[in-house]
Amino acid sequence: TTVEWEAESYDMGGHDTYMHKEISEQADAVDRVLRGRIDDRFSTVHLGGLNLDAREARGVRRIKILGCGTSYHAGLIGAGLIESLARIPADAEPASEFRYRNPVVDPDTLYIAVSQSGETYDVLAAVQELKRKGARVLGVVNVVGSAIAREADGGVYVHAGPEVCVVSTKCFTNTVVAFALLALHLGRIRDLSVSDGKRIIEGLRRLPEQISEILADEDKVKEIAEAYAGAQSMMFIGRVRGYPVALEASLKLKEISYIHAEAYPASELKHGPLALIEPALPTVAIVPDDDLLEKNRAALEEIKARSGRILAVAHREQEKADHTIVVPKNEPELDPILMGIPLQLLAYHTALAMGRDIDKPRNLAKSVTVE
Ligand code: G6P
Repeated sequence: TTVEWEAESYDMGGHDTYMHKEISEQADAVDRVLRGRIDDRFSTVHLGGLNLDAREARGVRRIKILGCGTSYHAGLIGAGLIESLARIPADAEPASEFRYRNPVVDPDTLYIAVSQSGETYDVLAAVQELKRKGARVLGVVNVVGSAIAREADGGVYVHAGPEVCVVSTKCFTNTVVAFALLALHLGRIRDLSVSDGKRIIEGLRRLPEQISEILADEDKVKEIAEAYAGAQSMMFIGRVRGYPVALEASLKLKEISYIHAEAYPASELKHGPLALIEPALPTVAIVPDDDLLEKNRAALEEIKARSGRILAVAHREQEKADHTIVVPKNEPELDPILMGIPLQLLAYHTALAMGRDIDKPRNLAKSVTVE
């Protein structure tokens, strides 16, 4: 069985598809997830439903994030945010895999279940198993009062609003922002300085406007998408913070365009995928202006040397790339939130050029409530 929104009851608001509507709503959605939560006095955020006091938060030794599909990818970025801001070892794993490997459930580990619908069976079953073993589980969930939200000990609502398109866009973005809030909160209880807290808060506040700026460039992304729509396969690369962005962008493309796509850490290219590079296999590269910029540029050179076409998503023009989508710079920790957005548009316009059923891709359901 599948759970679906009563699609007809939500107005498309002048858009041709729900996906386009939902992509376009992201500045407002991010505004909503931030609203009422920022505490400038202590350079932190308040998360009313967390049910984790400061002493308990200090006792957390490890964080394990569980989700499926796009929510798993949001969890990967969330783990990176938690490690960098709160300095708590964190990682994400598909909930379905976690359930079936008889994981060691440790009392000092905080578990976080991520789900747009709050109904995905594999995630719910993982939460129930964890609770049975006495673990503390938080939810990062969009749908208020959903099964996972009810089972969890507490959590953070994502406030993306209803998402109708089968593939997730605005909820992904809001989930990552919710993780940034959680990471900041945990960080400020632990060792994150006041000045770093302020820096992240200022960065969060800049997001809605920067998202609007990115969306204003849609025509350029559309042109690029039309140039790549004939590809049989596409490669997505990124490093560290950029890698989950590449994973999610490749998932989005394959879900709605049916073009084969895969994501690799740029550093792993030489260990295999470089053998695939040729003019017919375009690469989308995430190239932020951070401490890995030179390493990422070296990867672009490797690809260019094999006549691969390159589309870079970067903070400035990349001369090795055939096309660059320039996105505004935020704080390095928050850059992944912005770098994924033009790639939602890339997937969208590629699928549109190919005449796909964008809101209801074949073989997929919005919410998978069976195993
Ligand atoms: C399905 C959807 C995906 C979604 C995944 C997890 O596979 O097609 O878009 O990411 O379920 O859904 P959830 O509601 O738990 O985030």
